[in-house]
Amino acid sequence: MLKMRILLIFLKEGALVLFRKPKKNDGKAIFELVRSCAPPLDLNSRYLYFLIGAHFSETSAVVEQNDFIVGFTSAYILPDKKDHLFVWQVAVHEGQRSIGIAQGMLDDILSRSVCQGIRYLETTITTSNDLSKRLFKGFAKGRGAECREELFLDSTNFVETIHEEEILFRIGPLTTLTK
Ligand SMILES: CC(C)(COP(=O)(O)OP(=O)(O)OC[C@H]1O[C@@H](n2cnc3c(N)ncnc32)[C@H](O)[C@@H]1OP(=O)(O)O)[C@@H](O)C(=O)NCCC(=O)NCCS
Repeated sequence: MLKMRILLIFLKEGALVLFRKPKKNDGKAIFELVRSCAPPLDLNSRYLYFLIGAHFSETSAVVEQNDFIVGFTSAYILPDKKDHLFVWQVAVHEGQRSIGIAQGMLDDILSRSVCQGIRYLETTITTSNDLSKRLFKGFAKGRGAECREELFLDSTNFVETIHEEEILFRIGPLTTLTK
């Protein structure tokens, strides 16, 4: 039996949006959303975004408004550290930013039963991405958790193109696991 959990929410400015897990068929719309956010996001293959919906949906999220996907977060539990959630990409449509969609997706994912054991959230952020830093530092503050930073990948790892270094943000321990 297909079990679907959806969450309708009014955000700041009265926007009515729906938070849910991504499905395989959302891949095309997610690809377009990420494309519209690149740069600073790296655009991956369409196939990759179908895989997120097919295999990583329990720990990922999309946000719908008027049948359009306006928010996307991909994340997974680290295979060798079951209490660590790694957040990979967060994308919010330009017209829908600053109303709490990104923050809401992180809260939505962490409130799911699969994340009950999560004590640390990790993500990597390029040095110039101030909005992303603000999102994750705000998240840490809201949870009363520490946020530590260390180098994850320096720019020499990205040989073909110019790419900033990626800093690993490790937030935790998380004590408030549900909304
Ligand atoms: C980064 C991004 C995902 C944030 O999404 P969002 O839905 O606008 O974020 P939220 O509304 O949940 O706000 C999160 C925090 O950022 C702050 N913020 C959001 N937009 C802001 C803006 N334009 N100026 C200053 N602060 C801003 C919010 O006040 C909030 O901070 P707080 O927790 O201290 O209140 C969005 O800007 C985006 O998609 N950027 C392009 C892609 C990207 O860089 N992704 C992140 C890297 S993976």
